[in-house]
Amino acid sequence: MEQIIVPKGLDGVIVDDSAICTADSETGQLIYRGYSATELAEKATFEQAAYLIVYGRMPSAEELSGFSAFLKANANISDNTKKIMALMPKDTELIDLMRSVVSLEPNNGTKTDSILLEIAAKMPRIAGDGSRILKGAETLGEIEGGYAERFYYLLTGKKDSTSAKYLERLLILYMEHELNASTFALRVTASTLADPRAAMTTALATIKGPLHGGANDQILNYMVKMGTKGDAVKFVDDKLARREKIMGFGHRIYKKVDPRAQFMKGELKSLSRMKHAEKIYEMAVTIEETVWDRKKLPANLDFYAALCMYMLGIEHTFYTPIFASSRAFGWSAHYMEQITNNKLIRPDSKYVGYRGLRL
Ligand code: ACO
Repeated sequence: MEQIIVPKGLDGVIVDDSAICTADSETGQLIYRGYSATELAEKATFEQAAYLIVYGRMPSAEELSGFSAFLKANANISDNTKKIMALMPKDTELIDLMRSVVSLEPNNGTKTDSILLEIAAKMPRIAGDGSRILKGAETLGEIEGGYAERFYYLLTGKKDSTSAKYLERLLILYMEHELNASTFALRVTASTLADPRAAMTTALATIKGPLHGGANDQILNYMVKMGTKGDAVKFVDDKLARREKIMGFGHRIYKKVDPRAQFMKGELKSLSRMKHAEKIYEMAVTIEETVWDRKKLPANLDFYAALCMYMLGIEHTFYTPIFASSRAFGWSAHYMEQITNNKLIRPDSKYVGYRGLRL
């Protein structure tokens, strides 16, 4: 069999067809099932966008209400799950708790969209209740409203439809991004014909890393230390001089502009005006401009998303779980696409180790 040597990290390699999403590095456009992702963020609800991603078309009014009702009906977690959460060490990271809990729930092995959606629907509750249980606090009850309003409530304990709308737009942009690391990992697991829960667990494990979903949790660490624009410029120069990565910058696909980041930059501008905290926006723009000037790296979604979540009063420990909760709908679509036209994903490696050693 002829072997093909591909670039490290599969950089630039196309490994399969997909009809779910495409991110164009040249035009900086992100397309979900034929629609512009930023237009969806502006005009659609979370439920509409999630339906589109999973089923490949916009829902009718009846389909949308059935889908929304399904997500709501499956949002809660069992008392047993809560008891298990209470046994976890108090310093467990929320994303680890989510991964553990998703793998603990009962699994009957069926591979259907509804099983995947049942798992996805529970993620806001797992994150919200999990955080409270780890702190020894009471979990919150139910509220009326759509997915984003309910999620915002679980994150902050507040009913606030304006903030929930900001969160909803962010969630839509986090929902899907073709073969990013966690989705690819999920597809590897799906390709073995393992069940949806196993594949979701793989994806949750992979999204944690700071080069992927874990980046958004680290952005506040440096942003909160900035007092002036000079601090922002010095921070970038010091990081680059030490050859350290600046979280929230650079992207495998977007070399000039990440359309999601630019959308969220507009959101941050609006939020910072609303909250009379324009300085945060100015500081963020200074960092973005300095990184571009010095290294020609664009801000990625996580940079502006983290700052928007901060402005929405959401604790930083929730940032990666929020990303994961929304991406779970993208993962669901990829799981179904993988098993519908499956081939085991099993590449080869070039052996560079020893041979002929003797005991
Ligand atoms: N800060 C400083 N330098 C960087 C950064 C950064 N954030 N990102 C890339 N570079 C540099 C690398 O050091 C490398 O420089 P060199 O050629 O001088 O060695 C060059 O740019 C290429 O970088 P790679 O890491 O090889 O590019 P790759 O495509 O493999 O990585 C990645 C993309 C992982 C996102 C990278 O840009 C990065 O680590 N960014 C920071 C983490 C981050 O923000 N992740 C979130 C991704 S978006 C998301 O998940 C929603």
